[in-house]
Amino acid sequence: MIEEGKTYVIMGLLDTNSIAYYCGETIERLGGKVVYTVQNERMKKIFLERTLGRADREKMDSLDIKYCEVTIEEEVKALFEELGEVAGVLHSIAFANPKTCLGEEFHTNAFDDLKLGFHISCVSLATVAQYAQTAMPNGGGIVAMTFESRKAFAYYNWMSVNKAALEALTRALARRHGKDLIRVNAVSAGPVQTKAGSAIQGFDTLASTWEKSSPLPWDLVEDKQEVANAVVFLMGNFSKKITGQTLHVDGGASIIGGEIQEHERP
Ligand SMILES: NC(=O)c1ccc[n+]([C@@H]2O[C@H](COP(=O)([O-])OP(=O)(O)OC[C@H]3O[C@@H](n4cnc5c(N)ncnc54)[C@H](O)[C@@H]3O)[C@@H](O)[C@H]2O)c1
Repeated sequence: MIEEGKTYVIMGLLDTNSIAYYCGETIERLGGKVVYTVQNERMKKIFLERTLGRADREKMDSLDIKYCEVTIEEEVKALFEELGEVAGVLHSIAFANPKTCLGEEFHTNAFDDLKLGFHISCVSLATVAQYAQTAMPNGGGIVAMTFESRKAFAYYNWMSVNKAALEALTRALARRHGKDLIRVNAVSAGPVQTKAGSAIQGFDTLASTWEKSSPLPWDLVEDKQEVANAVVFLMGNFSKKITGQTLHVDGGASIIGGEIQEHERP
């Protein structure tokens, strides 16, 4: 599983609701050392310091946090140069301008927004893998976060396109880094309550109706821990022969045709 005392890098912390936070906590509980990255100091001030209650703020103060804007190659390079050897990396990062790339109308000519969304949500995984590689001389696990991209969801628009590309990139990177004993996988999570989720128009409806197509019960808050457990499995050494995969942690919704019938419910 997690190797005691080894360092795991958790990229994409925003607040205590972030998937990243749950993953980091889980790794620490299992004896790993966690270094989190936050996009920049402004984000840390807004979300980690201003919006939290005292207990959460104290928790945050105890975390090892570095800054890393993933569209700036030098920052990613410097991060991994500074950290020394790491055993696993989580890329839990995405962005698309909600005004132009998400919402009621799919079509847009906001090409700069599309490019930025693609860079942050997809291409940055390759930047991370490129520089993490030097910090993983003995191999390790890189994990990215995705959302069911084989189906077209209302409002999710260009983020869905980015996620499909991210899953393809996961496979390409798995092929490229097999010789380095570095595994690259993605976890496709069902909807969970976070800042990124709530920025998506229609997220509440999608989330509250998820159980209509998931054979297992699905809880928007509690099941963040189940998502984290799968991420940690793929980052650690219990998944040594798994690479290039997208593991769905979504209550099973992705394999169902139609809606779950009343008599099928638990
Ligand atoms: N919330 C969900 O329902 C859900 C479901 C499936 C997948 N995901 C994915 O999980 C990942 C984490 O999202 P979350 O839901 O925990 O939300 P979150 O808002 O807590 O995390 C998103 C993170 O991305 C970071 N980020 C955005 N642009 C960045 C940049 N240029 N450089 C560095 N960091 C940047 C943000 O600062 C934030 O920390 C995302 O990839 C998201 O698409 C979320």
